[in-house]
Parts: sequence; C-alpha cells; structure tokens
Amino acid sequence: MNGLTPHIVQYQGSKRLLAPQILPYLPGNFSRLVEPFAGMAAITIAVAKNEMSDSFVVNDINDALVGILKQAINAPNKLYEEYVDVWSAQFNYPEGHVAHFYKIRDEYNAGDSAPAKMLYLLARCVKGSVRYGSNGKFNQSPDKRRNGTSPKTLKQNIDAISYYLKGRTAFYSLDYREILNRTHKGDIVYMDPPYQGTSNVRDSRYISGLDYEEFVESIDRLNAKGIDFLISYDGSCGDKQYGRELPPELGLKKVMLNAGLSSQSLLLGKKETTYEALYISRGLQANIPSEKVSHKKQMQYSLFDAVAV
Ligand SMILES: C[S@@+](CC[C@H](N)C(=O)[O-])C[C@H]1O[C@@H](n2cnc3c(N)ncnc32)[C@H](O)[C@@H]1O
Repeated sequence: MNGLTPHIVQYQGSKRLLAPQILPYLPGNFSRLVEPFAGMAAITIAVAKNEMSDSFVVNDINDALVGILKQAINAPNKLYEEYVDVWSAQFNYPEGHVAHFYKIRDEYNAGDSAPAKMLYLLARCVKGSVRYGSNGKFNQSPDKRRNGTSPKTLKQNIDAISYYLKGRTAFYSLDYREILNRTHKGDIVYMDPPYQGTSNVRDSRYISGLDYEEFVESIDRLNAKGIDFLISYDGSCGDKQYGRELPPELGLKKVMLNAGLSSQSLLLGKKETTYEALYISRGLQANIPSEKVSHKKQMQYSLFDAVAV
C-alpha cells in the first residue's frame, strides 16, 4: 500500500491507520467489497485506492454518515461548496465558534439532513465521535480547540475518494443483517461492528451496541453461503482485554494487529500498546504469509487462545 488513505473526516473507530495491516489479508483482485458497518469507509477507500476490487457496497445504519459518503463520492463539488458555506460561517460569530456549532446541531436535529451540516458537526465535535441521546438527537459537544477540517483539505481528500469510487459504489442504510442477506459468492465482506462493552442500547434511530448471538449467527450464515470475510472485533491494551472473542466453531483464524500506543494510557502516564483482533474466514486463510504474524503478534495471539482453523 502506498501513502496514507485519504479520508473525509476523522471518525472515531476509523480503520484508516490500520488499513495497511488489514489489506494484505484480502485477495489482490476481486469483484465486490461489501462493508456493512462502513462508518467513514476507510477500508473501502483503501481497497479502491489500491485497485483491488471492481465494485463496492457501502452501508451504515446511520443514514447521515451514508449521506456524507454518497455526496463525497458522487458530487464532491457540491459537498465542498456547501461545506465552505457552513464552515466559514463559524468565523462570523462574535461569541465564539461554539455557538455556531450548537446552531448547526439544532438545525440538524430539527431535520435538516444536508450532508455538509453533518460533516461539519463530525469535523468539529469531540473525538470525531457520533453520539445520540435516547431521544435520537445528536448530542455530542464541540471540541473548543479546533475549527474542524479546512475546506481545502476536505476538497483534496474528497476529490481523490470520488475518483476511486464514483460509478462503482452502491449505498445503503440498513441493518447489517439485511446487507449480509444480499451478498453472494465471490463477494468479500469487511466487518467492523461497533465496539462491544461500550453500550448495548438500541434507540429509535441508531444501534450503538451489537447483539453478540445475532452477530455470531450472521457469520455462521456467511460461512454456509461460502462467502469470505474479515472482521475487526475484540482486542487488548496492556493486560486488559476488550470485547468477547468470536467462538472457535466459526473456524476463523485470529491475528492481532498492532494499533499503536494507547492515547488513553499515555494520558495516565503509561505506555501501553493496543492490539486489535482481525478474524479471517476460511477461504482467505490460505493467503496468510507466515511472516505477517510477527513474533510479538504470535505471543499476543497465544495469549488470546488462538481459535482453531
Ligand atoms: C466502528 S464503526 C466503523 C468504522 C469504520 N470501519 C471506519 O473506518 O470508519 C461501526 C459502525 O457501525 C454502524 N452500525 C452500528 N450498528 C449497526 C447495524 N446494526 N447495522 C449497520 N451498521 C451499524 C455505526 O453507525 C458505526 O458507524
């Protein structure tokens, strides 16, 4: 993989930095990549940039995110022009940019679904993290230290992303199981479900957690259909593990990817590395070169009680 994958905006949980470690587990050339939990679609963008797949399915239950992706890919100039208007207006606020953020947030919550507005909220909110209250309203606060991605940076990124994906991407905003039902042999699925352990609350619009049993059943069905996939799931940081392992009966191979030093631990004065698990379906396991699993990762791997192939 050459260079960093372009991205639209920082998104919490983005796989942009891990993409160079994930892509080598995919075949060099395939017909369709399906991403049911796309978020800001870092893996889709990286796969397209590296010309590994002919077409793409991008899905996320959060329709506002899909709206941003769709406009960035199909009409990047329109998104750019609308973003310039929203972003520039923050500097007209004598009482500070924060008041502008709240105004746009109110408009968005009142039903104004212009992708540029959601993009601005994402670009300016704390940790690029989408949060909704139990009433379904976006309730994340602004990051007071940042103005949000500049329009110039945004333009460079979305022009590149549009170049890679326009004309070969289908967009959906459905529950992941609906998307998996529509897959067929030859598709490759990349799944990055929401982090477990954070919240399992289902609210009226968005699902912030994932039912483990339902997810395992869905993977079992993919196996039965003979469809290959990769899943980013649990992990570890220092001696703490997060997330529940996927069961060995699924026949997946688990490798640990080095996700770098944990910023949270650094804040507490500790230097701890975060490892994220990647589960590999049967048909893709033959491609795992042995040198990909470094000594360190092998140790980590056994700590995690490696799943039988
Ligand atoms: C960890 S994020 C994915 C981040 C993504 N890999 C990236 O690089 O930006 C998980 C995503 O799953 C979505 N999601 C949660 N529950 C879902 C469901 N039941 N069906 C589809 N998407 C869902 C969330 O809205 C969130 O954007």
